[in-house]
Amino acid sequence: MPHILIDKIKELNFPLKGEKCEFLFKAENLIAVKTENAKFLINVKKHKNGYLIKYDKITRPVISEIKKAYLDFAKLNDAKIIFENISGIKEKLPNKNLLEITYDLSNIDIVEVGFGSGRHLIHLAKKYPEKTILGIEIHKPSIEQVLRRIVHEKINNIRIINHDARLILSRIPSNSLHSIYVHFPVPWDKKEHRRVINTDFINEAKRALQKGGFLHLRTDSENYFAYSLQKFLEQDKIDINVKKNIPYEITSKYEERWIKQGKNIYDIFMKSLEISPEINQNYDFVFEKRLVGLDFTPKVYDNFVIHIEKEYKINENDSLIRATIGNFNRPEHIYIVNKQIPYYFKKPAPIKENYLAHEKLKRLFNG
Ligand SMILES: C[S@@+](CC[C@H](N)C(=O)[O-])C[C@H]1O[C@@H](n2cnc3c(N)ncnc32)[C@H](O)[C@@H]1O
Repeated sequence: MPHILIDKIKELNFPLKGEKCEFLFKAENLIAVKTENAKFLINVKKHKNGYLIKYDKITRPVISEIKKAYLDFAKLNDAKIIFENISGIKEKLPNKNLLEITYDLSNIDIVEVGFGSGRHLIHLAKKYPEKTILGIEIHKPSIEQVLRRIVHEKINNIRIINHDARLILSRIPSNSLHSIYVHFPVPWDKKEHRRVINTDFINEAKRALQKGGFLHLRTDSENYFAYSLQKFLEQDKIDINVKKNIPYEITSKYEERWIKQGKNIYDIFMKSLEISPEINQNYDFVFEKRLVGLDFTPKVYDNFVIHIEKEYKINENDSLIRATIGNFNRPEHIYIVNKQIPYYFKKPAPIKENYLAHEKLKRLFNG
């Protein structure tokens, strides 16, 4: 982990400016830093030979910003750097096809969930050169591999998000998608709650699809097929088309394996037959008053969790709260600067579960 060791620290009054960074406030061992391109926290810890400066993992920016903060902080303290391991570290350039979760998704036409080796994703990109295809995948090595292939094959209409697809769908505007593909999802026979197909996902898919747009589920698992069909049948205003053992345009790696084993392959096509209302995605994440009566026990609700983990004092009245909020399976770590009008040190990702947790947080601790 990039860090520096300095020989001493001085009593500093915050906020204060360095050459390239602003140091906003100090909350016990954490110091808030603002540079031209980033906002993050650094952690200052007493060490037997001086003071160890590390970045905070939750707010971690790119390495170039961390370097600026470390060097400025050492200077402001008139400190000598005893050890550092930051000069040799090279930045990995961000890949323009790999989207942040905050990115605007209004120009996406097709979504593929859990694309794995990417064979079908690339097939889609070639089949629909005029459309923009979004691949959503949780497995980083698969993403790296597909990103390399995209460059190699000069494909320019694929975008990728590294996240749980069940959360991302709620970020897509209503009536905007031509199609959604879920091919050979993990069956999760013993952990149904982890399945991609569930009532919430189908509702979001129906909303995000254009009238006439479709979701294609292809699976080798009879169990998953029966479960999904049941979930689809609970919906109104959809057209359902089921097929068994019909070859598809392209054979995925998984499919090859199942066909060799003589397994049945099931398809469900769910077509959306209605125009859905637009959704309000302008999640403001604003607080009106100081949070009081903090309770540190984790709270689990139907769609989200809230766990206030720690409070760091800034001064007699104000503090920095570290918490986990949002979706139970993919919660987000956040900091709240708790003062007269509190604010998130960095806004949470604009997804439904985070906003539900934010609204609940305000109600729970409003005095
Ligand atoms: C069995 S593989 C199938 C891969 C590919 N669709 C195919 O047909 O070869 C399932 C893929 O879904 C991904 N996955 C599982 N749950 C996911 C989720 N909630 N969101 C996004 N991707 C997911 C896994 O990482 C894995 O790559």
